[in-house]
Amino acid sequence: MCGIVGMVNGRSVAQDLIHGLRNLEYRGYDSAGIAIAGRSALSRLRASGPLDSLAAAHKVDPIDGPSGIGHTRWATHGAPTEQNAHPHFADGVAVVHNGIIENHAALRARLREDGVAFNSDTDSEVVPHLIASYRKAGLSRFDAIREATQMLEGQFALGILFEDEPRTLYAARRESPLAIGAAPKAVMLASDMLAYAGRAEQTLALESDEIARIRRDGVQILNGRGETVDRAWTAATSTAVTVHKAGHRHFMHKEIFEQPEAIAKTFAATAAEEVAAPVESVLADCNRLSIVACGTSYYAGMAARPWLERYAGMAVDLDVASEFRYRDRPCFAGTGSLYISQSGETADSLACMRDAKEKGEKTAAIVNVPTSAMANEADVTIPTLAGPEIGVASTKAFTAQLAALMGLARSIGKARAAFDPEMETRFETAYRMIPALIEDVLDREGSCETVARAIKNSKSAIFLGRGANHALAMEGALKLKEISYIHAEGFAAGELKHGPIALIDEAMPVIVVAPRDGSFAKTASNVEEVAARHGKIILLSDEEGCDHLAKHCWHQVVLPETDDLTAPFVYAVALQFIAYHTALALGTDVDRPRNLAKSVTVE
Ligand code: F6R
Repeated sequence: MCGIVGMVNGRSVAQDLIHGLRNLEYRGYDSAGIAIAGRSALSRLRASGPLDSLAAAHKVDPIDGPSGIGHTRWATHGAPTEQNAHPHFADGVAVVHNGIIENHAALRARLREDGVAFNSDTDSEVVPHLIASYRKAGLSRFDAIREATQMLEGQFALGILFEDEPRTLYAARRESPLAIGAAPKAVMLASDMLAYAGRAEQTLALESDEIARIRRDGVQILNGRGETVDRAWTAATSTAVTVHKAGHRHFMHKEIFEQPEAIAKTFAATAAEEVAAPVESVLADCNRLSIVACGTSYYAGMAARPWLERYAGMAVDLDVASEFRYRDRPCFAGTGSLYISQSGETADSLACMRDAKEKGEKTAAIVNVPTSAMANEADVTIPTLAGPEIGVASTKAFTAQLAALMGLARSIGKARAAFDPEMETRFETAYRMIPALIEDVLDREGSCETVARAIKNSKSAIFLGRGANHALAMEGALKLKEISYIHAEGFAAGELKHGPIALIDEAMPVIVVAPRDGSFAKTASNVEEVAARHGKIILLSDEEGCDHLAKHCWHQVVLPETDDLTAPFVYAVALQFIAYHTALALGTDVDRPRNLAKSVTVE
């Protein structure tokens, strides 16, 4: 949600700032801007719309200098206009901000009483004005930032430039992430060092309530009490990762194809002793597991619930974080909690995890970003090794989460002796087979594309499934709606006749997720019910399933044979292709769907 960059290289930073923003654009693309500290003045360039608009404006009207900050915005307070784009200025101070200033209205009112005039509708603009007011009162830059940030309620990551101190950046944060990177001739700042992947050789993360002064010759960090903090640099792990599409038309497409590798790596990581042992020590004594997550990560938990019940012998509660957070729930001994998040920064999921820790629950997190708040704060972290996911619609992170959840079911099952040798063999076989099965689905992209062309003009679509496939149906519907903007709903197939069947007519595509498992016959009955009402059935099943229901189907996607361990992976990929090709056919912005951002760090 929004991206911050900063750079001091002593020469010209503008292109580096724009490059860094390009790598973070997936976090927000409503507007973008940069500010440069020149020899005697601050200059600024901002543009509404995606980063290309800023880059184009920069070609026409270039600004440059030895230090600068930049921002790509996902609008929360104020429309996505140029005026509301960051950086915001006030009397020689420029600020870029990620997060939410919850008391911005009160601070605005106070600053207005002191004669301050505001130029935007954002919560962020109070920050430069507060800092400027403390500077006018004679405080040092460090003290002005500290006093100003102590006034702020909410979460923030800030990049700050002062007109009277070029070649220097300041940074401060509370909760929202911010890191500093170093290369031989430059020091950089970013809300995610992915911005400078391949460039930053060393990094250090700023902790909450710390303030940093960043110069080419060194970084000074002060804590909230004004004491100097001695923080060691660590080798940048993201140096090997470059943000490019590797010949694919979209990041989403590339990431769909990266799934066999992401899953294989995640299986290996969860089976390794250094992950399995702490997971067992934290969760194996729990009889009940409370899974909390948002969006696609929630559907990963939902798809994995049957594994945890069946193989680990655990009762599983499943909650959406934004609801769970405000429930007045009793806390029982023997309950462990599991948070699933690609970013590890999702505000609602993080708040739930912190609340559980306060209540004394054991916490585990399945997280894709190893430096994230959730990865740092959970009692135990199970990593998904999907690598950076840039497409806003989650694909490889979802199946990597499934892989981690499968590993979790196995570790806990084994620790609780709920696991017999036959189960162990089945897991071992599934670990080996799943990447190959996905490769097989990748070869069937064409039949998903045919489905996409068939549904692209539909106003709505229904997805049906039972058990884990209910979760897949929900995920398939979410994928379709978020990137193609076609209204889509996922239902438990058995719920159809309790209401949703009223929606079925000859214009309604009904995508049925139906591997031949124990509930295939029941799902087949639902297919008959839809057929009787002239719904347009698109069946996802294996060859025998498709043959069985052929006479009712408008289209079919024939998938490999699966069992309960392999099916969610196989069907997820087909559903991703259907959403991708529908969006492609409709010409929407696949990687940057409207109104969305990758990492939802605000409530
Ligand atoms: C959908 C999608 C979102 C995220 C959700 C949670 O494709 O990506 O629904 O799954 O915002 O994000 P994380 O997993 O980062 O907590």
